[in-house]
Amino acid sequence: MIIAIDGPAASGKGTLARRIAAHFGYQCLDTGLLYRAVARDLRAAGQPLDDVKAAEWAAKSLDPSTLDDHGLRDPGVGEAASVVAKIPEVRAALLAFQRDFAAQEPGAVLDGRDIGTVVCPDADVKLFINANVEVRARRRFEELKSRGEPVTYEHVLDTIKARDARDAGRADAPMTIADDALLLDTTDLAIEAAFDAAVGLIMRKIGR
Ligand code: DC
Repeated sequence: MIIAIDGPAASGKGTLARRIAAHFGYQCLDTGLLYRAVARDLRAAGQPLDDVKAAEWAAKSLDPSTLDDHGLRDPGVGEAASVVAKIPEVRAALLAFQRDFAAQEPGAVLDGRDIGTVVCPDADVKLFINANVEVRARRRFEELKSRGEPVTYEHVLDTIKARDARDAGRADAPMTIADDALLLDTTDLAIEAAFDAAVGLIMRKIGR
């Protein structure tokens, strides 16, 4: 069983993916961490984010045991990840790891931008999670503020809009809604309600 969850930054897809995986007893992979780790490793090697050869090398030599590094969640790393994610060689190098993960029994949940379209086009269930951009920015702003980060709402909003445009506008595997994806808009939903709605959609799709 493969559940593919895509959507833009701060849509709630990461939290939903973890909750859904726990509910069904499946493994969960936040694929954004892979791109974040490539950006981290490139920076650590002192290489520019748009150096194709260096980025490909970083993706090919990525150590999955370093994906629990807390620093990967920093907003600046997310921005950098969105830049390296435009490079086709980076995306190609990360594909096999994601597909192997998805093949695990009894099932796997993967969340990202291109899971239902490119990584797992034959997924049993595809969800596309979205929310209005102001609401997403507000959520991200509150999260950063609670961590003591010196940010303004306007800056977070501008950053999220720029990231959406980069992720949806790139040539290779852009963020897009798969034809057979089920849509879930979390604009007016708290996490519990969003989780209930997502499980309802999944159960209906798999006929349980
Ligand atoms: O989901 P996230 O914010 O951790 O993702 C960081 C960046 O990684 C995102 O802006 C684009 C890229 N990404 C991608 O291109 N494809 C994925 N499947 C997941 C993330």
